[in-house]
Amino acid sequence: MIDTITGLPDLRARIAAWKRDGLRVGFVPTMGNLHAGHHSLVSLARSRADRVVVSIFVNPTQFGPSEDYARYPRTPEADVRGLQEAGCDLLWQPTADTMYPLGIERAVQLRVPGISDVLEGAHRRGHFDGVCTVVAKLFSQVQPDVAAFGRKDYQQLEVIRHMVSDLSFPIELLAGQTLREDDGLAMSSRNQYLSTDERSVAPELYRTLQRMRDACVAGNAMHEVESAARSRLEAAGFVVDYAVVRTSGLEVAEPATEGPRVALAAARLGPTRLIDNLEFDLGA
Ligand code: PAF
Repeated sequence: MIDTITGLPDLRARIAAWKRDGLRVGFVPTMGNLHAGHHSLVSLARSRADRVVVSIFVNPTQFGPSEDYARYPRTPEADVRGLQEAGCDLLWQPTADTMYPLGIERAVQLRVPGISDVLEGAHRRGHFDGVCTVVAKLFSQVQPDVAAFGRKDYQQLEVIRHMVSDLSFPIELLAGQTLREDDGLAMSSRNQYLSTDERSVAPELYRTLQRMRDACVAGNAMHEVESAARSRLEAAGFVVDYAVVRTSGLEVAEPATEGPRVALAAARLGPTRLIDNLEFDLGA
């Protein structure tokens, strides 16, 4: 049975004992409702560490007032079974009091300027401040040597890279590939909100990103690529927040320049908001 720890003194004692034995600690922060994408992050962390800690904490401060915090799927028994098979050594399940001992109103907040305000940040005000704050707290609790995050949350990964670099956290960041269903839909805990009809439309998000990549590689102007993507998604039934192409650092890409690019989209099907991205290279 996988070890589950819910109190900070026990967590600290366990991590200290591992470190005394010279073991490298890997970490995968999650909000639970784990699927194959999370399990692949456990394997990734394991490839660079001797012990792997997974945290499960549904973090209230990264949800907006009209978002799905209350109904975010919580599946503790299935999560434990999956983590056991995935090779996790320790499950860290802090309480809200451990994460926010002074209460949310009085909690220290972290903010990465600039990149937190565009795309996801523009549509989910304060989201990345909540993410940074909780991830910094988790890093300080777990003290990992390496930490794995999924590329599906591309912007989150960039924000966390910025935070780790600026605050000099001695942590190596690993980026896990996005895992997809057979029809291309990126795995996500939120997919289960989709009705049968919405689920059949959802893979159009990834197909649109592939079209965006192909159109960029073929030399089409960026604004045409983006507006065609929006129209395509709307025709399929999505309400589109954004469908854009950016540099790998999420800056607006200059036309006709080479280098790594990422197509990113966020769109709603009914009440469910999906995000996805596709990285590619614009060669000579
Ligand atoms: O990606 C997530 O599941 C969350 O944003 C994270 C990193 C666990 C912080 O709550």
